[in-house]
Amino acid sequence: MATLSIAVCGAGTMGAGIAQIAAYSGFKTLLYDIQESGLEKAKAQIEKSLAGAVSKGKLTVEDQEQTLQRISYITNINDCVADVIIEAIVEQLPVKIELFKQLAANNAENTILASNTSSLSISAIAEGVDNPSRVVGMHFFNPAHLMKLVEVVSGKQTAPETADIVYELALQMGKVPVRVKDSPGFIVNRVARLYYLEAMRIAEEKGADFSDIDQLLEGVGFKMGPFALMDLIGNDINLAVSQSLYEAFDEAPRFKPSILQEQRVKEGKLGRKTGLGFYRYEQ
Ligand code: NAI
Repeated sequence: MATLSIAVCGAGTMGAGIAQIAAYSGFKTLLYDIQESGLEKAKAQIEKSLAGAVSKGKLTVEDQEQTLQRISYITNINDCVADVIIEAIVEQLPVKIELFKQLAANNAENTILASNTSSLSISAIAEGVDNPSRVVGMHFFNPAHLMKLVEVVSGKQTAPETADIVYELALQMGKVPVRVKDSPGFIVNRVARLYYLEAMRIAEEKGADFSDIDQLLEGVGFKMGPFALMDLIGNDINLAVSQSLYEAFDEAPRFKPSILQEQRVKEGKLGRKTGLGFYRYEQ
């Protein structure tokens, strides 16, 4: 297993963290993005995170260096060749389908194609891929290098062996994998949707400020309040997940996206990654 090579597609919030944990766990890792600037940002983020771990005494300098050496940064899709490819690009079905088609064409027939999608159907992503039995969901949580949980999602065509390999891979990365069925939002994002949407409804009704709602929920034991968490996730991604569940559940009012988040996304206030979301952040 440790000899598997990994490629991560998309070097944003999630892709950078997934590449970091893959490389730290001993896997040779490619990190691919269409944007050079995205790769530069990811590289800086990984270097900073590892340096922080060294300064806290959680990582040796040797492990830091080896982890960095195992990652190669690429912008050419034709170089994106590996035993297991983990996709973490934008949460848009047509874009993911197109990428999977390209990856399938460029890679060996048994290369595993995993998606980190939060809400889209794994079966739909597999459409157009020859040998769709190798397509599977591998859903990490943010920050990917720290959060233990990974949902392993089997679509209609996913072969049991494919899910087994990804399950084992997650274990090798020190994660706690859980097998789930391919259904909108899987488990965590479906349940958590109401945490975000109900909080935004209260704010829309002027029932309370973002910071008061966050403070109250953190006060009763949630690790992060809904607004701070949406800023960490990225408001564009969080909105795309709400839209996807809203459509998948026949526009059920409980999943209706909030105007508060739609406005922020329109204005480019995406959260931590842009320095401004519900709150303001130092860049
Ligand atoms: P992000 O917006 O931070 O990064 C996306 C990256 O993908 C960008 O660097 C962009 O340049 C790149 N990209 C876009 N189209 C591409 C293409 N065709 N080929 C290669 N690269 C491309 O997004 P984030 O937050 O990392 O989310 C990525 C995926 O992970 C989404 O499917 C999302 O639902 C999922 N996810 C997100 C979580 C979060 O907390 N943000 C948590 C778990 C899953």
